[in-house]
Amino acid sequence: MNEITLHSPLDMHLHLRDEEMMKLVTPLTTETFSGAVIMPNLVPPVDNLKSLLAYRERITAAQGSDVFEPYMMLFFRQYTEAELVEAKEHILGIKLYPAGATTNSEAGVKALDAVEPTFKMMEEMGIPLMVHGETHGFVMDREKEFLASYEYLAKKFPKLQITMEHITTADAVDLMGRYENLRATVTLQHLIITLDDVAGGMLNPHLFCKPIAKRPEDREALLQAALEANPSLMFGSDSAPHPLSKKECCGCAAGVFTSPLAIARLAQLFDKHGKLDNLQAFLSDNAQRLYGITPLEKKVIVSKQAFVVPAAYEGHGQTVIPMHAGETLDWAVSSIT
Ligand code: NCD
Ligand code: ZN
Repeated sequence: MNEITLHSPLDMHLHLRDEEMMKLVTPLTTETFSGAVIMPNLVPPVDNLKSLLAYRERITAAQGSDVFEPYMMLFFRQYTEAELVEAKEHILGIKLYPAGATTNSEAGVKALDAVEPTFKMMEEMGIPLMVHGETHGFVMDREKEFLASYEYLAKKFPKLQITMEHITTADAVDLMGRYENLRATVTLQHLIITLDDVAGGMLNPHLFCKPIAKRPEDREALLQAALEANPSLMFGSDSAPHPLSKKECCGCAAGVFTSPLAIARLAQLFDKHGKLDNLQAFLSDNAQRLYGITPLEKKVIVSKQAFVVPAAYEGHGQTVIPMHAGETLDWAVSSIT
């Protein structure tokens, strides 16, 4: 196959930031994706309906005339029932960060058991919970150590839909298969790289993200689940732009920027393994079914032709370096209608 038509591709985990950075990166998603789940880890976090609706307005202004729906998320804290009732129709779910686990998560949760009343209300009201599942342990073990908490929540709240965000381990793939109410997103980079690509040779800050890329066997398990279009797995880029000055410095911020090349690179990956037929499910259908959403119609044709990834994306006084900067991909988005 030299071409594939994708219907309404979705990015189920995306950081659009705010202000000038948002103006630069938003069109780089909204051009090719029909919708995306917008992460609420701004400063201060998006943890009330008023700021969420205002943020949504800023995003839709930045997307211009692109056909695109931002699926909004609240930042997890203990909410009252009245707040949840009011917010429900405006959100896809609520994103929980353990305090201090990643960028802008200082206001996150310190102890899961203290916030169970909110989980209970979310379960009863049918509001999904999205989780950054890492402990504060040794960096390679943080996700693995968090799996017990996922299992505890999945059992204790069997009707609560729980998304394990950006999974990076074979153990997480296993766990996902064991509970009906556990699903997961996986990024592009975690299907392609291991820790070796980040720190095995020359240190590559542009591949440094949380959770950190793991072992070859972890990448293999994630890749197989994606290629077979495992019905519990969705694409979530976790595209997380940081200014060049925050990446190429001492004390590099975590986050890999992939939005503008994600669809082309996924097509190249699925084609390499003879699994292009499963890309539609991974990039849209699974998410539609799991969240019960019907995205805006958008037809994206991806073709086997050279695509030189820009060395940098610049605008609005910002510079961001994408994954695969300056490299030539074998697949390119060739038409969007
Ligand atoms: C994200 C960011 O920069 O906001 N960084 C990352 O490395 N993935 C936060 C997150 O999703 O953990
Ligand atoms: Zn993220």
